[in-house]
Amino acid sequence: MNWQWRAQGPGRQTRQAAPAVPSGWRQVLRRVLRPILRLAPLLALVAGLLSAVSVWADDVRRPGSAYMSPATQALQRDDTQNPAFLWVRDGEQRFAAQCAGCHVAADMRGVAARYPAIDARTGQALTLAGRIRSCHERHLRQPAPGWESEPLLALLAFVTLPSRGMPITPPADARLDAVRAAGEALWRQPFGQLGLACAQCHDRLPGQRLAGSTIPQAHPTGYPIYRLEWQGLGTLQRRMRGCLTAVRAEPFDEGAPQWVALEAMLMRRAAGMPLDAPGVRP
Ligand code: HEC
Ligand code: HEC
Repeated sequence: MNWQWRAQGPGRQTRQAAPAVPSGWRQVLRRVLRPILRLAPLLALVAGLLSAVSVWADDVRRPGSAYMSPATQALQRDDTQNPAFLWVRDGEQRFAAQCAGCHVAADMRGVAARYPAIDARTGQALTLAGRIRSCHERHLRQPAPGWESEPLLALLAFVTLPSRGMPITPPADARLDAVRAAGEALWRQPFGQLGLACAQCHDRLPGQRLAGSTIPQAHPTGYPIYRLEWQGLGTLQRRMRGCLTAVRAEPFDEGAPQWVALEAMLMRRAAGMPLDAPGVRP
């Protein structure tokens, strides 16, 4: 800190010639400024902590798109540019060919906003992707398409689109409580060699940069998403799988109940937020 005072040297000479600052003032400045300068690193630390706390205390819910660059946001907003619409159009044809015997596309409005839901026949919770697979097995009497297969993604994108702009409305079904509780427990559980819980990143650090990406709040409003990194469409399950791999944990099997539980928990956490699928992500 001494160099700061040595830099005042010329001032001392000035004072001898013509006192610009009364010596009383000089004493006061010295007494007040010196401790402040000594405390500077501490003050910086406190300011840093306060801003970290304000990030943590920021309980405004934001969709993933809020953390994206303006260019990626523009890509998501414009249906003629958003690459996910290639899957939507493919899904429209598949729906007409396979599903229209029992469903009208217009009936799909609002459906994506209330899944996962309990299947009446089995009593099990199903994601929307799981429901579409179940219709293949149960009603089309065909093997269900793979979880991240192109036919499933296309149907999922097409079936989700009519719910765009609608608020997420998780069903008030008591049978989902245990599913959501299981999801909540997974959310707080440390995973992988890094021992990190979903909550540690997504509840505490949204907005912070991590290895070139911005940590979002992890609201599931935009799914399925077109991810530039994937050069393709993917489900929420695939996105969450990526987070487990990133913390060096072994992901659950495709379609495992843990994914359904996490999705049910995330949909309740995002209740009331408008769906903005199909999203685009970096
Ligand atoms: C080490 C921090 C970290 C942990 C732990 C973590 N994530 Fe993530 N998560 C991220 C980052 C960073 C992104 C954004 C990645 C990107 O844009 O490339 C992300 C993205 C997501 C998204 C996408 C949100 C959107 O707007 O599209 C979801 C959903 C998600 N994570 C869920 C989870 C779940 C569930 C877990 C626990 C099983 C988890 N994450 C654990 C850092 C983490
Ligand atoms: C033979 C009739 C039939 C066909 C074909 C059919 N479904 Fe279904 N679908 C049903 C029935 C019945 C239900 C109610 C749940 C159940 O009993 O399986 C249903 C439920 C659904 C739901 C949930 C609706 C809600 O309100 O929760 C979706 C989404 C859906 N089907 C999508 C599809 C898609 C996509 C296809 C084409 C690949 C398809 N279905 C083909 C009969 C059919």
